[in-house]
Amino acid sequence: MKVVVTGSAGFIGGHVAGALRAAGHEVAGLDLREGADVRDDAVLDRLLPGADLVVHHAAKVGLGVDVSDLPDYASVNVYGTAVLLAAMARHATGRLVLASSMVVYGEGSYTCPEHGGVRPGPRAVPDLERGRFDPPCPRCGAPAGPAVIAEDAPPDPRNAYATSKLAQEHLAANWARETGGAAVALRYHNVYGPRMPRDTPYAGVAAIFRSELEAGRAPKVFEDGRQLRDFVHVRDVARANLIAARAPAPPGELVTYNIASGVPHTVGEMARALAAGRDGPMPVVTGAYRVGDVRHIVASPEKAATGLGFRAEIGFAAGMAEFARS
Ligand code: UD1
Repeated sequence: MKVVVTGSAGFIGGHVAGALRAAGHEVAGLDLREGADVRDDAVLDRLLPGADLVVHHAAKVGLGVDVSDLPDYASVNVYGTAVLLAAMARHATGRLVLASSMVVYGEGSYTCPEHGGVRPGPRAVPDLERGRFDPPCPRCGAPAGPAVIAEDAPPDPRNAYATSKLAQEHLAANWARETGGAAVALRYHNVYGPRMPRDTPYAGVAAIFRSELEAGRAPKVFEDGRQLRDFVHVRDVARANLIAARAPAPPGELVTYNIASGVPHTVGEMARALAAGRDGPMPVVTGAYRVGDVRHIVASPEKAATGLGFRAEIGFAAGMAEFARS
């Protein structure tokens, strides 16, 4: 197959392009770092003729620093995807694999002993100040425990990046309906692994902790360290893309999949695993918090297993030990 990979010089896009090449596919990469902008029709008109598939990873990532980031998220992620999809329609490129994110869910799913499955709203600052980090049941205020989140959960994007990723999904669904194309959105959970960017406010927590350890400092774990995430290795994520690129997909639709390890870990456990892997100082649990953070996100990997035949293979202990030294 001829595959156009946008964002091919980035952390995940680079691994995806490598996996596609290793599997024998012809890859045409496009990346802003190499001067090729996904918002540029001339670039797309050069790359798309003859392509069977686009794997779209070009995006401004991370949480955003402040509101001054809004125009960039909208321009690169939302407008960029719109330009790409219009070009795909022009060139009759019929398949899209979109890099989406678990951030479209906002807070994860919870179970209240009284009310069953609930989705709490943003946590209140006074609660965070008092160290009450677990969001209460939105109906009765009782403690609610984390539950797995599946793809049919209503989205609740909480920041500009999340909003832009959800907008990409909506645009892709629109493109699929109008052109009969097949679109697959892979909702990545917390991706980590070799070549993860260092020292940037836009990096995820695993990269931040590794940078601290490299500098000989203890990782600073926010809240009480018991917040749950699903850390999935970038080589597993690249393999999920390879599978999605080849798997039959229904025309005229967007299908979404969680891409996760299926085994949640706390941020505190992750910090300890990295510290141990580098023989560095053990993490410090600070009790500090970021207002925009969600507490727990526990992914269901079942739809990806049944729909794509994808299951992550790199376990937490081995993956973190390798990442600590990479
Ligand atoms: C992260 C990404 C998000 C991506 C998603 C899925 C960022 C900023 N967020 O979301 O873009 O879509 O994974 O791949 O890249 N924490 C600490 N110490 C720190 C920094 C963070 O304890 O120094 C804690 C946070 O409070 C939070 C957890 O680590 O509880 C995860 O933080 P982070 O990786 O930034 O964001 P996610 O919400 O998981």
